[in-house]
Amino acid sequence: MRVVRLASEIDFDGWRKAARALRAEGVAPDAVVWTVEYDLFESAVIPAKAGTTASAGVSGGPGPTLRFGRDDNGREKPFTVPKPFIDLAEQVVLHRSGERFALLYKLLWRLEREPGLIDNPADPDMTRARDMAKGVSRAAHKMKAFVRFRLVEGVEPETYMAWFEPAHRVTERVAPFFARRFTGMRWSILTPDACVAWDGEVLKVSEGADPADAPREDAQEELWRTYYASIFNPARLNPRMMQQEMPKRYWRNLPEARLIPDLIETARRRTDEMVAARPNPPSERVLKAALRHARDGSYGENDPLTLEDAAAAQQVCRRCDLWRDATQAVPGEGPMRARIMIVGEQPGDEEDLSGRPFVGPAGRLLDKAMAEADFDRRKAFVTNAVKHFKHEPRGKARLHKTPDRGEVQACRWWLDAERRMVKPRVILALGATAVMGVTGKSMPIAKSRGAPIALDGGVQLVVSWHPSYLLRVPDADVKARAYAQLVEDLRLAKSLGGGG
Ligand code: URA
Repeated sequence: MRVVRLASEIDFDGWRKAARALRAEGVAPDAVVWTVEYDLFESAVIPAKAGTTASAGVSGGPGPTLRFGRDDNGREKPFTVPKPFIDLAEQVVLHRSGERFALLYKLLWRLEREPGLIDNPADPDMTRARDMAKGVSRAAHKMKAFVRFRLVEGVEPETYMAWFEPAHRVTERVAPFFARRFTGMRWSILTPDACVAWDGEVLKVSEGADPADAPREDAQEELWRTYYASIFNPARLNPRMMQQEMPKRYWRNLPEARLIPDLIETARRRTDEMVAARPNPPSERVLKAALRHARDGSYGENDPLTLEDAAAAQQVCRRCDLWRDATQAVPGEGPMRARIMIVGEQPGDEEDLSGRPFVGPAGRLLDKAMAEADFDRRKAFVTNAVKHFKHEPRGKARLHKTPDRGEVQACRWWLDAERRMVKPRVILALGATAVMGVTGKSMPIAKSRGAPIALDGGVQLVVSWHPSYLLRVPDADVKARAYAQLVEDLRLAKSLGGGG
């Protein structure tokens, strides 16, 4: 029996060298025992740019092929290992299964004798290896998605740390991804197998750690939870899929995970409410009038139109093409004589399903900002510049698309009608499309916000950032500043309107 001692659990190079030597000597797979020498761990440096690693025991890559073997007379026998097998082996080595090195050597042995083996979908050894490779690649994907850094208190310069327990030994493999993603940040990721640390220039790997070595909670947690709750769409809830994507084993380290049971429990109720809120079909009178208006635009300035009529008529609006792909029009809602009108861009996915403005992620963030500004949403008339959801399908998702100038122009007719009926003193326009809907002009938000702009009829326009912009913008400082300005602008609108 031959015993091979590898330098680490992920020592692909060591396995490769040993396999080459064993093959050359003609040692059959069942005569080899593969073990790992635990005290050989050395700290090492991983090249940050590479997709793969080159640390202690991790592959530096032998090039596309390995050649080894001797014929029955002891002469070198050319045998080229197919590149797909090398790729597979580099993945399989990271699997936690104790059989991985032996399985790979067995496959290598067999490949020489059965050249078609690599393409045989029914072979049990190949199937096992492919399943292991899939597991490893899934574990790498989950690690990229679920590592959450926490600020380490009292350490200068600012340093972040994360504890993570990957399903397989993918830490070094995935580390360059984090170095690219968080280049400007000092961080380390602690796992039971290995720790990786990035100081802005060099990625270092060292021995595995204990969960107690990592900080547990910091102020960022609340931010994660707010963000997660705000992007959660109950109409799209599928708990089975959700757990496939975010398996329970990762929940412990995810600040947002503690919200999940609650969100699941309330999701059904919220979806029922959405379905119940679907609009009633417009009455025949309204339908006829709306169709006439859509055809010849003959609504006059003084047409007696109630908000309910306007809402119903919007359901049959054909002033542009956006109605074709939308579930329904989303009219404005709020008191008939609200002093403040809040205008957004257009309904999003949840608004389109529920028929109500600002009830999705952007709406929840707006609600949060309103609460901070002590602004009572129930007193405002909340609407959008465009009443139908413009989007494009991406798999099962519907991705928001910004309405174009023509669509905003077509829908101004409805916004004007709402303005005529509500007669607000103050209009708070959120984002560029809202400004265009209200004024017919483009204005940069950064320059237009902060002070009221006088409109005809003594109406004051307050311009601010759209909450979706806050959800999208990646830079945390920019996000925090824009959020504070949104709160400020809500306060300004409230004071101009005589209290919201
Ligand atoms: N974004 C908007 O502009 N309006 C909504 O109603 C929802 C999201």
